[in-house]
Amino acid sequence: MKVLATYSIKGGVGKTTTAVNLARQAAASGSRVLLWDLDPQGAATFFVRVKPSVKGGADRLVSKTGSLAANIRATDDPAVHIVPADFSLRHLDLALDDTKHPTRRLAALLAPIADRYDVALIDCPPGITLTSESVFAAADALIVPTIPTTLSERTLDQLTTFLSDHPPAPMVLAFASMLDRRKRLQRDTLAHLMADIDGFLPTAIPNSSVIEQMGVHRSPIADFAPRSPATIAYQNLWADIAGRVWT
Ligand SMILES: Nc1ncnc2c1ncn2[C@@H]1O[C@H](COP(=O)(O)OP(=O)(O)OP(=O)(O)O)[C@@H](O)[C@H]1O
Ligand SMILES: [Mg+2]
Repeated sequence: MKVLATYSIKGGVGKTTTAVNLARQAAASGSRVLLWDLDPQGAATFFVRVKPSVKGGADRLVSKTGSLAANIRATDDPAVHIVPADFSLRHLDLALDDTKHPTRRLAALLAPIADRYDVALIDCPPGITLTSESVFAAADALIVPTIPTTLSERTLDQLTTFLSDHPPAPMVLAFASMLDRRKRLQRDTLAHLMADIDGFLPTAIPNSSVIEQMGVHRSPIADFAPRSPATIAYQNLWADIAGRVWT
């Protein structure tokens, strides 16, 4: 099982949207997928129409008796299961801090179910916290949605610096999120990112009103707009990621 995490220090950049659509694309290409919603907002949980619930809360989940298996739920897509979030995850950092090896805890939770899935896709909350460090230790790759603007370029730089100072680091697979090609600054910033950032993925996800409608449909866009350019972009993004992760 490969462990991928949609992650960014910045909020509102498309992490959850990416996790839910990539889960769908991975399933469509034959993988058994576990989506793990680690964000107390529970947006990924909402998008796949599952009740927000963590059995016993975040404390229990990361305790010695906690398990992911007890929290796995089915979704409308038979190849995608989810570990839903709930509001107790707002204490996840504190709960991890009470464990013996906080940065290894999420990897340890994933280990017993590794033969049941081909891909685990963790939807992370924004920020760079103890939870993030535990994600970094568990993940083979971080999928980093990056809106091509100056501040996003800066946070991507902060992330790569942090990871190079804290080895071993997962692979960083950044890509352009919510790209608006009408904006000159975005086109120019994207050109820098493609030239300067190692591993920056070639597929960009456009800023699209179809993608915004996910909140209304509560499903990945492939389910309600299968032929839209945005669906094709997620197909291509998944192909880019698979090409980097399974080589
Ligand atoms: N490509 C896109 N085009 C247009 N809107 C988008 C796109 N991607 C995401 N959005 C919208 O932007 C908002 C933020 O997206 P999302 O929740 O995926 O970001 P996030 O990084 O997970 O946010 P948070 O940091 O709060 O977890 C949502 O309203 C979503 O519908
Ligand atoms: Mg999110």
